[in-house]
Formats: sequence, C-alpha cells, structure tokens
Amino acid sequence: MRALASFNQLVALARFGARLSHRSERKNTMCCSVEFEDEDRDLSAIRAKGEVLLPLRILAAPSQPDIARIRADFPVLGQRINDKPIVYFDNACMSLRPKAVIEALSTYYTDYSGCHGRVDHSFGTATTKAFKNARASVQAFIGARNPSEILFMRNTTEAINVVANVLRLQPGDAVLCSDLEHNSNLLPWLALRDRSGVEHRVFATNADTSFEMAAFRARLDRKVKLVSVLYSSNLSGVTFPLGDIVREAHSVGAKVLVDGAQGMLSGDMDVRDLDIDFLAFSGHKILGPTGTGVLYGKEELLADLPCFLYGGETVTDTTYDGYTLGRAPDRFEAGLQDYAGAIGLGAAVEYIGGIGKRAIRKQVTKLNTMASEELAKTKGITVIGPTDAAKRGGVLNFRVDGMDSGDVAYLLNKSANLMVRSGKHCVHSWYNARGVPSSVRASFSFYNTPEEVDFFVWTLRDILRFYAN
Ligand SMILES: Cc1ncc(COP(=O)(O)O)c(C=O)c1O
Repeated sequence: MRALASFNQLVALARFGARLSHRSERKNTMCCSVEFEDEDRDLSAIRAKGEVLLPLRILAAPSQPDIARIRADFPVLGQRINDKPIVYFDNACMSLRPKAVIEALSTYYTDYSGCHGRVDHSFGTATTKAFKNARASVQAFIGARNPSEILFMRNTTEAINVVANVLRLQPGDAVLCSDLEHNSNLLPWLALRDRSGVEHRVFATNADTSFEMAAFRARLDRKVKLVSVLYSSNLSGVTFPLGDIVREAHSVGAKVLVDGAQGMLSGDMDVRDLDIDFLAFSGHKILGPTGTGVLYGKEELLADLPCFLYGGETVTDTTYDGYTLGRAPDRFEAGLQDYAGAIGLGAAVEYIGGIGKRAIRKQVTKLNTMASEELAKTKGITVIGPTDAAKRGGVLNFRVDGMDSGDVAYLLNKSANLMVRSGKHCVHSWYNARGVPSSVRASFSFYNTPEEVDFFVWTLRDILRFYAN
C-alpha cells in the first residue's frame, strides 16, 4: 500500500481516462472480440461535477505465487478492458470458472454430446457415465447418503420453488424464514401464502444481521412445518448456525430447507451431519456453469413427494389414462437435462476439493479483513453486517454517504475496471423495512489478491474525494 502511495504521488496528475461527461464513449476497444457496454445509467448527478480526471492507480501483480498459480486456472482473469486489467469483485453473484470446468463442458460438446439413460449407443453411454459421475461428485461434496438424493436444477431459485410446490403444505401450516432472505427464498412462500393460505412467518435477525436464537424460537411452534433459511447471507455474509436451527426445528416437527446459494464455496457442508432435510444451491456461485444448481432432499422425503414438472424421464410407464411415477432423481428431472452443465458442475466441485475449503476460507477472510480495515478508516462509509470481517465471509456490503451506490459502482467500473454490485441485492424487503435505499457490495473469492484489494480501496477513496457531496 505504501509503495503504491509514493508511486501515486508521482503520477497523481496522469490522465486516467474516466471522462464521464462523454456518454458517447461507450464502446471500449478490446484485446479480443468482446465488446463491453455500459448499462443505461442516468449520469446527471455525476456530470454535474464536471469532467473529473481521477489519479492513475496501477494494479500490482499478485505477490503470492500460490495465488498466481490459481489465477492461471481462470482464463477470464487475464481479460483486459481498454488495455487495463480487470478486477472482479462480484463473486457472490457469479463466480468465475477454472479451465477444468470449461474443458468438461467443451469435452461433452466435442466428444460425446448424447442423452443419458436408456440408450445403448456410444454417445449415450458416455453421457450416462459422465452424468452419473457428476452426481456422485456433488453427493460427496455435500455428504449426502445416496446419489439419488441429488437433483439437478437450473439454480437455487428453481430448487426452492420445487420444494414450495411439492411439499403439500396446507392452510394453517406455516413456513418460517429469517428477515434476511433473498427474494428467491421469500417470493415462493409469499406466492404459496397467496394461493394456498399457508402462513409465511419471519423472525428477526440482530441489528448486525447475525442470527438470534431467542428471536427464532419465539416464532417457532408446531404450526411451523418448514423452516426455510439461508446458509450464508448475500447481503452481509453472515452464516447461520444450521446445526442449532435444524435441532430446534425438528423438535417441533418442522422440516428444514437451507438456501445454500451463498457459503457453499468456502463453508463446510455435510447434510447428514447437520440432518438437513432439503438443501438448494447454485452451480454458478461455486465455479460451475451458469444455470446449474442442485436440490438435495433426504431419500425418504423425496420418495413421498410428487413431481413438480411431469413428462419424459419422470415416469416408468404410461397408458392413455394413467402413469407410474419413477423414483428420485428422475422423478424430479423432467425432460432432457443440461448434461454439459451438470458435468461441468461435477468438475467444479472436484476442483474445489483440490484447492480445499479451508484454504479458500483463509484467503477470502484475509481479503475481506484487509478491505474492511481500510474502509473503516474511510469517512462516509458504513459497512452492513458484523464489524468483524471474519464473520462476513467474502461479502463487503457498504453504504456511501452523499453518493448514489449505483454511481459508485459505475465509476469503479468505468475508471478502473473494478466490478462490484450495487442496489438492493435481491433483498428488497430488508432495505425497504429499514429505509435504506441501496448499497455497494464487493464480494471476494479465493482467486482475488491483496493487490486488487489495495487497488479497490485507493480507487474508491479517489471517487469519494472527487464525487461525494
Ligand atoms: C442467498 C441467496 N439465495 C438465493 C439466490 C438465488 O440464486 P440463483 O439466482 O442462482 O437461483 C441468491 C443469488 O444471489 C442468493 O444470494
């Protein structure tokens, strides 16, 4: 950081290229054929400040050889925009993919590209084998007892919707969620309430968004048939004590669905040990292909549940007026599947196993601690969630006094190719209840570096200096 500071003093007047008054400067020339365009943003507030040139900051190369080696596995990290390197801090939304995953996808398309099951030709048997292996890899990743407990889905959202639709909840039953849930673990229950009269209950988290057992217990009774809670929050990065939650829920006869969209990359997960009934998670947040996900369900529960979608693969036989449903997983995987995606997801969880969750956690915590300490010293910034960065996983979500969060994210990207997210992060309910308009979220992964964090902090401070009211 200090070396950068002295360098920056020398080049403080260098032109940086963030000529924000030039809206027409929208097409960046690239080292490759991809064109990057800005979103349609109202820049009037920024423009009112006139044309400001931010100081030039240089992004240093990674100082840790092990991280440099890991980064070499992720081709997109070598991308340059306007001839400058990129910094990707939007990992809570979408993780990047290692070559192993990209190769698994492309091998499916180039080498065998068939359907799984009930086929005897070469492509079919190769697909069946790879699909089966992928399911076994995911089974091992979450500690499931049986591969048939792993249902491939498009994402967490779909997996939660499947549970909401097949669980046979009745009017008078209740579903209990926290006040921190993503829309994908809120809307399926609100819609169920609206169409079936199933109560949707909310328990409060603490002011710093951490879990509070007393608040949870106060809302839990025998009417609650399902507790549906996050593993880790995309809003603040806090992690819920799943073991305690499951124990309490089971003591009143409620099942537990865990929204594992966040936390699965760095957090331990053993569904058997935790006695979780259902677990939903997305492949694209754990290095897997886009539009992939998983619903885990205990074998005995799945055996008793109907299909959500009916059609090919879900049955063993049909007549003109009847059908015999198949067993899990086929019963829940209607129609031909995203075989390439599932195989890519299998490769992703294998890759994670090779790096090790402990190493991933260590790097992410280190980066978040560094960034949080710097932001704590920066006037006008309020971090959402616990003060201790170690309790926030890879999430650093903050409000900026005197600036629109969308403008901050736009300027970071425009001036320095620093990609973060702004808005209400699909937890509108939490922001609306507190009158918080929006925030900026940086989310780190294990392939990010301390140098990138330094670069982010410096650039953010420059932006605040020039643009904040
Ligand atoms: C906590 C949480 N739950 C659910 C989701 C929905 O995930 P997906 O869009 O992959 O279905 C997200 C996505 O960011 C999330 O962070």
